[in-house]
Amino acid sequence: MGVLTAGGDCPGLNAVIRAVVRRSLAGGHDPIGLWRGYAGLAERSYVDLDMRTVSGILHLGGTILSTSSYDPYRHDGGVERVLEAVEQDGFDAIVAIGGEHTMTITRRLYEEHGLPLIGVPKTIDNDVPCTDFTFGFDTAVQVASDAIDRLHTTAQSHDRVMIVEVMGRNTGWIAVFGGMAGGADAIVIPELELTVEEICEAINARHDRGKRFSIVVVAEGAQLAFASGEKRLIRASPETDMYGYPRLGGIGQALGKEIEARTGFETRVTNIGHVQRGGTPTARDRVLATRYGVMAAELAEQREFGRMAALQGTEMTSVPLSEVEGVKHVDLDYLRIAATFFG
Ligand code: F6P
Repeated sequence: MGVLTAGGDCPGLNAVIRAVVRRSLAGGHDPIGLWRGYAGLAERSYVDLDMRTVSGILHLGGTILSTSSYDPYRHDGGVERVLEAVEQDGFDAIVAIGGEHTMTITRRLYEEHGLPLIGVPKTIDNDVPCTDFTFGFDTAVQVASDAIDRLHTTAQSHDRVMIVEVMGRNTGWIAVFGGMAGGADAIVIPELELTVEEICEAINARHDRGKRFSIVVVAEGAQLAFASGEKRLIRASPETDMYGYPRLGGIGQALGKEIEARTGFETRVTNIGHVQRGGTPTARDRVLATRYGVMAAELAEQREFGRMAALQGTEMTSVPLSEVEGVKHVDLDYLRIAATFFG
């Protein structure tokens, strides 16, 4: 039974690897790691996995299998090499742990070539459809909420506006949950346009009622929008990543300049960046990752291929990979609740 981790890393990957390995060993199977995602199959680069190699990794961030964005469909002969490896090296099942793009590769390899694949959704962004929560998200939210707590005290001491930029790609999950947990005074997300003028109005209203500082949480994928209708997506660089996604980042700085110029309040910007993705997973993420891993190994054992382990409500279940399409946006009801405390 092969196990691979692909795409960006996130806290809890090692907990899933451990769970897949321990559950498959308990079932009498023979787990093996694929080095750096699907590249491990194409290059037939494998890592021994046994009780010893997965011992002591539950709490560790990153992934002991390393990761990459290698997509066999984007490399000449990539798919053929993957097929050859599965056939010749005798894989009966492979658990692919990755984000939305990895799920697409996994679905195609299953549907087009009948490979014995199971998906496990991972991302701090919580944007994979058909599952309520992905592991890694809770840790990212905890990091964002801790950062906001720290920024609160210094904002208060200096009467400043603090902008906190968080990750999330094209969704506002981390911003809304982190912002609500940290008591943000405004939250700006891609799913709901909030103009610079509206944000400044909320900050001014707060200051008018005697508050001398404000915390604004902004998701990296939110656009800088103005009442005039002008909108700008701010990017960290003009390049795209290997999957063709824009490299986001910088909305915090752009928004901070506008707020300072328009309100006259001294404004500082913090981008917490990859700190959200590194380090030890929260207890909740360890539990969730463990449940995902055990479910994936059980699906593999039952030869329920072409499915993704999923959390629906409090139940761990599975869905066909063919249903896992597009991006899951934040439920705006969470923002409505957070907004009760704005201004
Ligand atoms: O998908 C996870 C994520 O951390 C996003 O929130 C972010 O936009 C992106 O990955 C950053 O990617 P990279 O690590 O390639 O800079």
